Amino acid sequence: MTSPYGLRGRAAIVTGASRGIGLAVAEELCRAGARVCVTARDADAVGRVAERLGGVALAGSVADPAHLRAVTELALREFGRIDLVVNNAATNQPYGPLMDVDPDRWRAAFTVNVEAALRLAQYAWHGWMGEHGGAIVNVCTEGADHVGPHVGAYGTSKAALLHLTRQLAGELAPGVRVNSVSPGLVRTEMARFVWEDSEDELGAGLPLGRIGRPEDVARAVVWLASDAAEWITGADLLVDGGTRVRPRAGPATPCTTVCAPAHRTAAAETRVGAVSTPSQAPPSPRRPSPGSGGPEASEMTAEAFAGNGPWAASPAARDHPRLRARAGPPLDGRDYHLPGA
Ligand SMILES: NC(=O)c1ccc[n+]([C@@H]2O[C@H](COP(=O)([O-])OP(=O)(O)OC[C@H]3O[C@@H](n4cnc5c(N)ncnc54)[C@H](OP(=O)(O)O)[C@@H]3O)[C@@H](O)[C@H]2O)c1
Repeated sequence: MTSPYGLRGRAAIVTGASRGIGLAVAEELCRAGARVCVTARDADAVGRVAERLGGVALAGSVADPAHLRAVTELALREFGRIDLVVNNAATNQPYGPLMDVDPDRWRAAFTVNVEAALRLAQYAWHGWMGEHGGAIVNVCTEGADHVGPHVGAYGTSKAALLHLTRQLAGELAPGVRVNSVSPGLVRTEMARFVWEDSEDELGAGLPLGRIGRPEDVARAVVWLASDAAEWITGADLLVDGGTRVRPRAGPATPCTTVCAPAHRTAAAETRVGAVSTPSQAPPSPRRPSPGSGGPEASEMTAEAFAGNGPWAASPAARDHPRLRARAGPPLDGRDYHLPGA
């Protein structure tokens, strides 16, 4: 199928494009006619993507300013222009309560999730966009809007990225539009630990009946990057299958219509207590298999896995011997959203 968005002749940089949402964005941009410069740390993986899409690749970490400068130079050398930048690469580490967070790992999260987006925008602006115009799309998260257990560094950094998006939109207008897309739970390696054992139940709890696919997000990114969105800047486009508009369970509504049993929160269970029996069985904690969860997921210990996610806010989590000291009551009395993310 050809893309409805004409980007022929345009050139794009996409970070974190070796798999998941970034890969889908690079594919969708190519379908719309753009040439792509893709980046990720795994040189083989990102090289294969570039070869398949007829683009160029550079391996490296977005945490390294020299890598971002080199990516900009490569795109200008190969394409002679940079019309679009998609800041997609991110880390969901470190997990855990903020009172215990290692300051270096906290800083590293902000370097990857926030500072890299600013630096790449700076390089693209000074190298091309400042004079010729363009569009930047930052990939944030639906979760940046609310509080969840053990995902404080990720959520705070993504909230900062959201603000950076708006700040840049104001500073770079009218020549450069800057917007963000905020995905809900998407079926990628980064969020595998959330969806792998309960994808169908999680999907059934969403108004649109399934969890996200990378291409759902990619189409939104490409639309915002295209001229179809020429009068939109500083906007955040939620692509979450209706996560934010899930009906709240009333007294006669079984919780299964709202969220999967293993992912009920204490608040949800209180509301439906007379109707449904909450499962006390915690999901089996397990370490993601090597290579299956990407560098972020593979850093997770079994305990970190068990201590995170919506399940962590449930009574079952609070009663779990290993987690008793870690999991507290919901902070705001609302359903926790999926942290995969
Ligand atoms: N999946 C979800 O449910 C979800 C929900 C909300 C928001 N998001 C956001 O969507 C974006 C993409 O996530 P995803 O789910 O597609 O994750 P993913 O499948 O794990 O892909 C992440 C991509 O980023 C690259 N990457 C990671 N760290 C990097 C670094 N320091 N420097 C350069 N590249 C790096 C990875 O390749 P290498 O490992 O080779 O570097 C990979 O290409 C992220 O911004 C994430 O926060 C995801």
